[in-house]
Parts: sequence; C-alpha cells; structure tokens
Amino acid sequence: MKLLFLGDVMGRAGRSALAEHLPRLKADWGLDFVVINGENATSGAGLSGAHAKALLEAGADCITLGDHAFDQKDMLQFIETEPRILRPLNFAKGAPGRGARVFEVPGGARILVAQVLGQVFMKRPFDDPFSAIEAVMRTTTLGGSVQAALVDMHCEATSEKMGMGHFCDGKVSVVVGTHTHVPTGDAQILPGGTAFQTDAGMCGDYNSVIGMDPAEPLRRFVTGMAKGRFSPAAGPATLSGLYVETDPQTGKAIRVEMVRQGGRLQAAGL
Ligand SMILES: [Fe+2]
Ligand SMILES: [Fe+2]
Repeated sequence: MKLLFLGDVMGRAGRSALAEHLPRLKADWGLDFVVINGENATSGAGLSGAHAKALLEAGADCITLGDHAFDQKDMLQFIETEPRILRPLNFAKGAPGRGARVFEVPGGARILVAQVLGQVFMKRPFDDPFSAIEAVMRTTTLGGSVQAALVDMHCEATSEKMGMGHFCDGKVSVVVGTHTHVPTGDAQILPGGTAFQTDAGMCGDYNSVIGMDPAEPLRRFVTGMAKGRFSPAAGPATLSGLYVETDPQTGKAIRVEMVRQGGRLQAAGL
C-alpha cells in the first residue's frame, strides 16, 4: 500500500498548499491512502467543520487532530458526523468522536489509523498513551485483519515519540510524530518493520516561528510580554510529511521517504 502522511496543516497557507499540491501528488505517486494532521488548519488553532470539508475535498482520506482538537467549538459536534476525523485516543474521558478507526481502502484492503497524545512537557496531563495504543493494537492484526496501520504520536518530546516508535515496532506499518511543526531528518524503518520519523513537520509557511508570524512570538521571547495574538504566517507553505510503502501481505514498511513539497523547504522529489 502507498501511504502519505502530512503533518500539522497551519492556517490558510497550509490549506491552500494542500489544495494546490495534494491532488497532483495522489495521482503522480498512485497513493492508496492519505492521512493529514489538521489540528492547526483554522487560524492556527483547531479545525472548523468547513475547513475539515476542504481538507477532505483536497484528498485527505483521514484527518487526525491533537491537543488543539476542539479549539474550534463546532468540531465538538462535527466530529460525530464525520467518521474520517480522529481525535487523540487519550484526549479526555468525555471527548466526542473516536481516536482510532479501521478504514476501507479502494481495492479492498483495510488500514487502522490511531492517534495518541504524549505526556512529557504537554500543557495539561493526559492518560498513558502506551496503554491506550496497546489496547487498540490488540483489536487488529497487521497482515491479518488489517493490511496497514498508522499511529500519529502527537507530543512535544522527541524521546517520547521515539519510545512510541519502538513500542509499536513490528505491530504497525508507521509511527509518525506530530505537534512540534519542524520535520526531523530521521526517517527510517525500525528493526521490526515499522516506518518511523520523529516529527513529520508542518504544512505551513516556514518563514515563521512554528507556523506563526514571527513578530508576536519574538516579542514574547525578547520582552517577556504578550501584546497581540498569534497569527499564522501567510507566505507559501511547504507540505511536509512521510511517504511509506507497505508490503501487501505483512503490512510492514518496505520503503520510507521524507516528503517536502512547495514553499521554502527544499527537498528531492520522489
Ligand atoms: Fe499539537
Ligand atoms: Fe500542531
């Protein structure tokens, strides 16, 4: 199976770049399934129902969220009506929607997608992501009931993301980190056959501070005082993420490539 995962879509710049590039990538690369992290797609904070529809129309087969899952309040209802959107498994006891789902891929294959939040350096405490993902992995078998499986590990600490990669190694096709918005250069296939990259990076304008116009973040760093609101940087966005090919029988990764398309970040195309 040919999978594409794209990291946190940041504001209008990220949404525009997706609409511009994703249909072409799907066709040129023959993608079977596309997962996009959409937690910052609406003004940098959360995802509205209208923008979720736009991301799905651009070619996302599944949208994951994150700690900003419900910053846009209409998502509290919208997620119940749109099964292609997942929030973190361990977001909160009473959170609407689901954190994992098995999707049918055109051609008959099945893929499990799940998202969890980490615990290290996060703004509020979340339940243990390792036991949450273990419970989900017990419900499916890679190479048996599902032909591929992808885990979005949404957290701050690189160590915790790498820990999740090893925890899931051999049991899922891909573990990819999100949330920190800067792509890491460590795309690899772990010994058990799981493709891994510590952070996918964002789909946003990299002339920024993790996707935001630099003026207000810099003011806060330099003066210690907030003056205005953060606003997403509006220049051309780079699509950042991970391309993974899986073995149709075992579901394990046989190829992984870092993806960067458009905007300021330069990368070799596939
Ligand atoms: Fe986040
Ligand atoms: Fe994010």
